Amino acid sequence: MATSSSSEGIERLIRRNLVNFGGYAASKSPKTLMGKTDIQQESIIKLDANENPYGCSPRVSQALATCPDINIYPDSGQLELRKLLADYTGVSAEHIVASAGSDQLIDLILRLFLEPGDEVINLVPTFAMFRFFIELNGGTVVEVPRDENFAVKVSAVKKAITKKTKLILLASPNNPTGTLAPREDILKLLDSGLPVLVDEAYYEFGGETVAPLVGQYKNLMVLRTFSKWAGLAGLRIGYGLFPTRLADYLLRIKEPYCVNVAALVAVRESLKDIDYLMGRVEAIIAERERLFSELKKLKWLKPFPSQANFILCSVLAGALKLQQELEDREILVRYFDEPLLRDCIRISVGRPEENDILFETLKELGEEM
Ligand SMILES: Cc1ncc(COP(=O)(O)O)c(C=O)c1O
Repeated sequence: MATSSSSEGIERLIRRNLVNFGGYAASKSPKTLMGKTDIQQESIIKLDANENPYGCSPRVSQALATCPDINIYPDSGQLELRKLLADYTGVSAEHIVASAGSDQLIDLILRLFLEPGDEVINLVPTFAMFRFFIELNGGTVVEVPRDENFAVKVSAVKKAITKKTKLILLASPNNPTGTLAPREDILKLLDSGLPVLVDEAYYEFGGETVAPLVGQYKNLMVLRTFSKWAGLAGLRIGYGLFPTRLADYLLRIKEPYCVNVAALVAVRESLKDIDYLMGRVEAIIAERERLFSELKKLKWLKPFPSQANFILCSVLAGALKLQQELEDREILVRYFDEPLLRDCIRISVGRPEENDILFETLKELGEEM
């Protein structure tokens, strides 16, 4: 039987930078909400992880029922997948690498560049997985805060660059603020000569991209995902657009079979059903605008404009209390408590009927809060 001294012993062998590693506060699985495993998933309104409330294309569900080749390893060279992604993005296949969710590419990129102690500029507040992967890979996070409207302060970024800086990470639209970075700002960051990772996980909801510039800049990397617009979060499929030399390195260091055969089928079918999926994206954008104006009517909430599929909201009456009151009513939202995000929640855009229940609940709670 393990004793406490033997577990302390094992800690001495664990990598120094991971002994106190904080991990990531992932969204709650509806299946285990409040520790219960028998909860009715259908009754939960899940607005905490920026998933697609409409699910995937029906073509994907149908094709997965007869998914071939499950007993065969996927193509490690991703030839068909990269060709499909080239057709979708307009960027040729030699620039493209796919992964098990775009999270995996964030990890691979940092693994490729970072030696212990190297610095990475992180434009906070932003996606928490950036910090997670920088620290996991032995890097040092250099935080450059955004301004009060969550815009990037380019001159502050330039001042933060040192001899140890290896990368600049920028999500656009940013999570959890919903802010798009103007192209001029991205170009100024690229002028630094440092590798710049532009994470466009929410591109389809914001409509602006720097993807066409990938062929022109040796230091631009763009990340995308099928988790949000195509409703494939559970299948884990993301991709990146890179200068060809970087794409070659990433193809070499990735786990060979990182994209599974079901994910390939799902991409193929999603891209055949693009009109349907983009119709859903339009519906989400329309609901986002309705959500914004409804939230604005409540004097104790301050929503921020968003170009993604969620809305960040400052809660004058206490965000943690609100998040818990909503959870008690089976509505899940994300709570934040960090500089520039004190007393904030992030609400993913749901289906109209889900948003209606949210509005009614917020109105009722407003009387108590
Ligand atoms: C900015 C950003 N990048 C990447 C991801 C991860 O996406 P994926 O599901 O493709 O790993 C998310 C998910 O929330 C995100 O918000």
